[in-house]
Amino acid sequence: MIIRLFSIALVFFTSCSTNDWSANNSSMETGKDYPAYGGNKANNRYSPLTQINANNVKDLKVAWKYFANDSLSNVSRPREIQCQPIVVDGILYGTSSELSLFALNAATGEQQWRFEPDKEKLHNIRGVMYWEHGDDKRILYTAGYFLYAVDALTGKLISTFGNNGKVDLHEGLADNLGHEVKNLSVTATTPGVIYKNMLVMGSTVSEGGDAAPGHIRAFDVITGKLKWVFHTIPQPGEFGYDTWPKDTYKKIGGSNCWGGISLDEKRGVVYLGTGSPASDFYGGVREGANLFSNCIVALDAETGKLKWHFQAIRHDLWDRDFPAPPNLTTITYNGKKIDVVVQVGKDGYIYVLNRENGESIFPIEERPVPTNGLPGEHPYPTQKFVMKPKPLMKQLLTESDLTDISQEANAFVKQRFLEFPKMESQFQPPNEQGTLLFGYSGGAEWGGNATDLDGILYQNANHAPWQLKMISKEEREQELISLSPGNRLYVKNCSPCHGINRTGSGSIIPSLIDVGKRRSDEEISAIIKMGNGRMPAFSTISDDNLKAIMGYLNYNEIIPPKIKSEQNHNGNEAIANPDFPYVPDYFIKSWDRFTDPNGYLGIKPPWGTLNAIDLNTGDYLWTVPLGEFPELTKKGIPITGTETYGGPLVTASGLIFIASTRDERIRAFDKKTGKVVWEDQLPAGGFATPITYEVDGKQYVAIAAGGARGAKSGGWYIAFALK
Ligand code: HEC
Repeated sequence: MIIRLFSIALVFFTSCSTNDWSANNSSMETGKDYPAYGGNKANNRYSPLTQINANNVKDLKVAWKYFANDSLSNVSRPREIQCQPIVVDGILYGTSSELSLFALNAATGEQQWRFEPDKEKLHNIRGVMYWEHGDDKRILYTAGYFLYAVDALTGKLISTFGNNGKVDLHEGLADNLGHEVKNLSVTATTPGVIYKNMLVMGSTVSEGGDAAPGHIRAFDVITGKLKWVFHTIPQPGEFGYDTWPKDTYKKIGGSNCWGGISLDEKRGVVYLGTGSPASDFYGGVREGANLFSNCIVALDAETGKLKWHFQAIRHDLWDRDFPAPPNLTTITYNGKKIDVVVQVGKDGYIYVLNRENGESIFPIEERPVPTNGLPGEHPYPTQKFVMKPKPLMKQLLTESDLTDISQEANAFVKQRFLEFPKMESQFQPPNEQGTLLFGYSGGAEWGGNATDLDGILYQNANHAPWQLKMISKEEREQELISLSPGNRLYVKNCSPCHGINRTGSGSIIPSLIDVGKRRSDEEISAIIKMGNGRMPAFSTISDDNLKAIMGYLNYNEIIPPKIKSEQNHNGNEAIANPDFPYVPDYFIKSWDRFTDPNGYLGIKPPWGTLNAIDLNTGDYLWTVPLGEFPELTKKGIPITGTETYGGPLVTASGLIFIASTRDERIRAFDKKTGKVVWEDQLPAGGFATPITYEVDGKQYVAIAAGGARGAKSGGWYIAFALK
């Protein structure tokens, strides 16, 4: 979930159908087209195309390139494009990092049209949805707070949809709350799924005290009308209400599904994974197991009624959101074919559940976990441990795991490591002394995974330890009292990411030291107001407060005549927001990757891997490092892998295509062996998931290469084909 305003919990690291159309695109049958996010509604990222195979893949060449980014503002900074485009009838639909939607001739890259939404708030867009009925062909996608319906052939808004072509995503969220939510941040980074004439979708909301409710909703694709709402934080009379203190749903939000939704068209059931409830890392006001947060949920697609749920983590204190849509596939287990739903977690756990009833195929143990939480916290006394498949990465950092890429790195990291209290469990609740944990940037991430027809899951994973320290509301107020207004605003709103000393974090969060020398005041104000990717938009910031922060960043703070009152619930005084429902008692003090002095991860490599897991047995077939730091390889260090963002694609010809690495490369792996059989340099970091499709008898592989995350930046879509 990405956040507009908060001071605590930040994340980082967040279809109608004509039956004829959906029939030939259901489940595994994606062919020439790549008509949905994830390739098909089961989110398999599987293609039956075979023209490009292990023998000829080495001859892949660039077929076309399209520069997608626009010049919305004069803010020239690296921007990621996370979009996995779709292709229908030879037209490729994608988005720019500034939220524009475009249609290209998928064989040539030539632009057919471009649509510009309202652009008050920038955020990532991971894909779009397609629906058609006869001549009525629509692209549905989210930009900012709106869901748009655009004519797929002309790029014009469909004025009969919603309010002149768009639906406000605050629709239906305030039901029974007794207060407004219209100023709370609600968008959707990942598209939903189309079922008949309905679009079922989740949302991206704040993870702090200002989080909007994370209801799952269905909208009519033709009219934009709300069809049903499923409350992920139950209301009186609803199942699960007793897993929270009374009336919690009025106070806190989150428990949203930002990772995407899958559809079993035959069963008429949607499957999705939810995230943690607000606020991340402190749950003092939400004693209980907190259904339906951190759950895999099956809903009747027609009505939104709950079919079953499986809660992976009770009372989440670690921001262990489900980051990707479930993958619907079929396995053979004990000689029986079983339809399963496969959900991967940021914590690296892989849940393989029977699609009918939500029961785990592999054994799960319920074990006691530490309950020594912060004052007022109610850690849940037991948690689930999945016996198979093994998690994608380590769960606990030990001294013998510390980086060994150089003596200097090891010594530095060891000293830091010893300053932290010893960790006994990955379920150690956060505290003021500090915890070292995995999972904030995967394990698995939003790029998702691929499965082939044999029930093999291909999943990239990150192996990144993080450190987290919390601070009480009172202590922070004490610290803040002596500060200038701009500094105070900075500490409350910016320091959790950019650091108390403005130093940022590695390549991921820029340092703000001397930012005023690199960027004009206009650029900086635009960034603060509009956000970008994981930089939240502070769109409702007052002029006075903006001036104060700018003054602080420029080292010439002008004390404004009147700073907005301090009584904001989220401790978020910068951005007075009457809707803030609650203030947690503890906030993030620091939250950061645990790295060596050069910014490389403080754990022994590999730092990024690609894995093949046989879901029929739960066993790993192979694991290989994914990505490279050439400067380390030159020193003789075996390939380390890099953190990876973006997912794999598997084809019937036995290839896995994946980019997602810091080295800006796209690779093809042999799915049997995990060996690289082709690679090429992208014009910028490809932090996205590739697609494949066919036009006029020719197979293409295409991906967005937007850059950022320390990789070369660009703004391209690029397609490869055999010459
Ligand atoms: C959730 C973490 C987060 C928070 C909170 C946050 N930022 Fe950022 N910020 C980022 C990230 C990530 C980027 C880099 C975005 C990109 O890819 O361009 C960034 C970029 C920036 C930049 C551009 C820097 C450059 O060199 O291009 C400025 C200026 C900035 N932030 C200011 C602020 C201010 C001021 C606040 C508080 C009001 C704030 N940020 C709060 C994560 C955050």
